[in-house]
Amino acid sequence: MQFFLFKYINLLYNYFMEIEIVKFDNLGRGIGYLNNKIIFIPKSVPGDFLEIDLVKEKKNYLEGKIKKIIKPSKLRKEVLCPYFNTCGGCDLLHISLTEELEYKLHKINDILKKNNINYEVKEIIKNSNEYYYRNKITLKIINKKIGYYESNTHNLLEINKCIISKKYINEIIKDLNKFNIINGEAIIRCNHKDEMLIVINSLDKLTNIDYFINNYNIVGIIQNNKCLYGDNYLIHKINDNLFKISYDAFFQVNDFISSILFQLINKYTEYSFNVLDLYCGVGSLTLSINENVQNILGVEIVENAIKDANINKNLNQKEKVTFICDDTKNIIDKITSFYDTIILDPPRSGVDEQVLNKIISEKLRKIIYISCDPFTLVRDLKILNNYYEIKDFKLLDMFTWTHHVESLVILELK
Ligand SMILES: C[S@@+](CC[C@H](N)C(=O)[O-])C[C@H]1O[C@@H](n2cnc3c(N)ncnc32)[C@H](O)[C@@H]1O
Repeated sequence: MQFFLFKYINLLYNYFMEIEIVKFDNLGRGIGYLNNKIIFIPKSVPGDFLEIDLVKEKKNYLEGKIKKIIKPSKLRKEVLCPYFNTCGGCDLLHISLTEELEYKLHKINDILKKNNINYEVKEIIKNSNEYYYRNKITLKIINKKIGYYESNTHNLLEINKCIISKKYINEIIKDLNKFNIINGEAIIRCNHKDEMLIVINSLDKLTNIDYFINNYNIVGIIQNNKCLYGDNYLIHKINDNLFKISYDAFFQVNDFISSILFQLINKYTEYSFNVLDLYCGVGSLTLSINENVQNILGVEIVENAIKDANINKNLNQKEKVTFICDDTKNIIDKITSFYDTIILDPPRSGVDEQVLNKIISEKLRKIIYISCDPFTLVRDLKILNNYYEIKDFKLLDMFTWTHHVESLVILELK
């Protein structure tokens, strides 16, 4: 009894203790220590002194949330978003852009070092517009409330603006309730001409469709894969290329960073002859490959995306390109030494090990690996590490104010 009482008092005492945040973790959370046990606190900043509430207690770590900022870190800056404290979207809006970029460089170098990959990344390419840059948002709708999930929960946080999404998208957010959706999600995409494509996934009947058509520059409204109005795609322009993007096809969310990425792809394929582009989507990287290249093959699993890619090939008059729709795992026999360069831009899960082993066994000269997930990227780099040397590694601030970052790695056969 005495023991339990002591433990209880001890716990209570600890939970009201002051915590100092000493650094960020790789998910953008602050790290502190409570009784020598590591504790992760979202939305905190190194240098903060905090009173916290305990949220989770595990054998090796604790998770908490800020109850009160006793003394704010000097690194904190004014946050322009009213939802920041609860929203599960941005996690770094409370530090300066310089600190945000530093954090991302440090994080990647930390992950590389911990995985014994001997390379120091020195460059991060800045976003041109740190706010209002996203060309796509996905909003959740629960019991008629529209917004994002709160951090680490499926509780809905109602919003009527999102300062990292394009301004034109922000205009329509306030009006979305006019569709009268009770439960579901709304995906809004916006192109270079501020034309919008609206995708609704919901069993509820949409109302006031004409209101949206008459008041916004809408090219299409799709519900549950069915086109209710206009087209089921958007035409988007990046650099000098036009891209048809179907409602269910992937496209990069940041136009400025995409334009830089596409230019880099062009530069890094300048001396290539035959290029294989796996995970090619609607062909955005494929069609950016240097005009000196003789043969280009793009592979993508989503049928609509590959149909778009073929249309995009014609739109941009790129004769040397062929696209096939398949799972990369099924086209391993196409990964041969005929190709001297391979572009890999996989989903977050990274590249299939069979694919990596075939690249190694066929001794492809150059790999251009683009990734939005440093953990699976590094997992794959470890497989390639004995055979390939990292020649360049750039970060791109594709997802400003979040802990996410895009990597571009150039590897050459040793
Ligand atoms: C990160 S996106 C890159 C798309 C394109 N490179 C771009 O920049 O727009 C990854 C793409 O891989 C596709 N994909 C996912 N798993 C795949 C697989 N097993 N085989 C082929 N493509 C796949 C997705 O549909 C998506 O279009």
